[in-house]
Amino acid sequence: MDLGLQAEGAKKRNGFIGGLGFIMAAAGSAVGLGNLWSFPYKTSVSGGAAFVFVYIFSVIVFGLVVMVAEIYIGKRAQANPVTAFKKMHKNLGWLGLIALMIPFIIGCYYAVLGGYTLKFTVNSFSDNSTVLQTFSGNVGEVILFTVIFMAIAVVIVMGGVQNGIEKASKILMPVLFVILVAVVIYCLCLGSGVKEGLNFYLNPDFGALGFNGVLAAMGQAFFSLSLGMGIMISYGSYAGENVKVGRSALLIALFDTLVAVLAGLAIFPAIYHYQAETGIALQNEGIVLMFASMPIVFKTLGVAGKIVSFFFFGMVTIAAVTSVISLLEVVSQFLIQRYSLGRKKTIAVLGVIVLVLSIPIGISLGFSLNGKQDLTIAGKNLLDFFDLVSNTVLMPVCAFGACVALGWFTFKGESKKDRFRSKYLNDRLEEEGLKLGKFGMIFAFMVKYVTPILIAVIEVVGVLEKVFPVESGKSYFSLNGLIIVLTAYVIVLIAVVVYFALLKNKPTGSNEDELIEKKKPSGAEK
Ligand code: TRP
Repeated sequence: MDLGLQAEGAKKRNGFIGGLGFIMAAAGSAVGLGNLWSFPYKTSVSGGAAFVFVYIFSVIVFGLVVMVAEIYIGKRAQANPVTAFKKMHKNLGWLGLIALMIPFIIGCYYAVLGGYTLKFTVNSFSDNSTVLQTFSGNVGEVILFTVIFMAIAVVIVMGGVQNGIEKASKILMPVLFVILVAVVIYCLCLGSGVKEGLNFYLNPDFGALGFNGVLAAMGQAFFSLSLGMGIMISYGSYAGENVKVGRSALLIALFDTLVAVLAGLAIFPAIYHYQAETGIALQNEGIVLMFASMPIVFKTLGVAGKIVSFFFFGMVTIAAVTSVISLLEVVSQFLIQRYSLGRKKTIAVLGVIVLVLSIPIGISLGFSLNGKQDLTIAGKNLLDFFDLVSNTVLMPVCAFGACVALGWFTFKGESKKDRFRSKYLNDRLEEEGLKLGKFGMIFAFMVKYVTPILIAVIEVVGVLEKVFPVESGKSYFSLNGLIIVLTAYVIVLIAVVVYFALLKNKPTGSNEDELIEKKKPSGAEK
């Protein structure tokens, strides 16, 4: 009897079945192009191991703290990010709205890159080495592959949290990891050039790191861990009682970092092997590294190269799909819960909107890869523009908000003194069920004082660096930088206005609402 009831209850709950499913799904969101591509190339241009050190430091000091905060914010609310922020303080719900806009923006350009990875996967057995220019300039083909890529993600998310996201992540993430390890071993065994590649990748050069490198490492940590964008709040809301927040966050961050470091161990030995064999240096910056340099290396490796190429790009596609899944889930979660919509329809419509918006981004990227500057904003192709808007300005705002909301606004305290005491916060969190053991006090202190201050510094310095960039020792005013920063703050403003005008005094829904058909959203009337 009892067991039967429990099984029934478990079925009804809208969320991940187990702790492992939660970790796999969150790791699926975290591991993406950021790990397999931007981490290695940023490392290579920003001082090698020096960059890796700063990156790992950022993961520990900001990454883990914000991740624990976000997962916990979601878990305690059992609701979408807007309701979750609202539950901490009624006037903070707009942070949830910004949180939803960030993955939406990222998703629109990420979908284009997802299309690219898919194209390179299926094209692996023909010659990929010259495809980048022709493919990127062929709008119809780019759209076709973006459509297929998005369709895969949409179908998975339509299956629901348990039967779609959790199941897919539990299969895809181990597959990704096995392929990665195999590719790394293959690349490390290439012989000539491997040593030089490793040396280039991992030799610390603190001079090349510089202050900009430090900023880049911190930003990369947020982007790569999917923080400051509501994703971990949303996934945390689907976590059941059995999920241990601290341990899960640690495992997700470890896995994410491991994948990033491993990716470089595959890419740079391969690139330098080519150089050792042919005497030709390949470019290892930006989009060219993944979609032009790597295919050239694969081409020279004969049949094995074609097979490795197929698995390599297949792995990158998997990583990209499981990240886009999280975008679709976090945005549709809010829409479904706030407006009592059906899951499948909402996700389909959202997928189509992302696709439509991705088209100009794809065209713009194609132009810039073919040497044209026709479709740009603030001197950037649209992909770079939106990347800067979301990553430099918006993500820190949201991560800062998560720390401050949990650290200062959730528990008011009986006296003024309580408000400033980390111990008070730690005690309340423990009472509520956030069990971090001996790390509890450290977490409380970090989330209240250290992490938000450091994030605020990143935000301010990041903004100043955009508006007043420094070139050869001189700083100057950049109108383009100002446009990027203003765009981001207009988005913040829109979120604030929309929240106070339309959402503050209305129920914004919770996970339970999705289970009860045609019921008006409840929750957060506090
Ligand atoms: N974490 C992803 C990566 O490392 C990037 C990412 C964050 C993302 N949020 C997203 C991708 C939303 C797509 C949609 O690549």
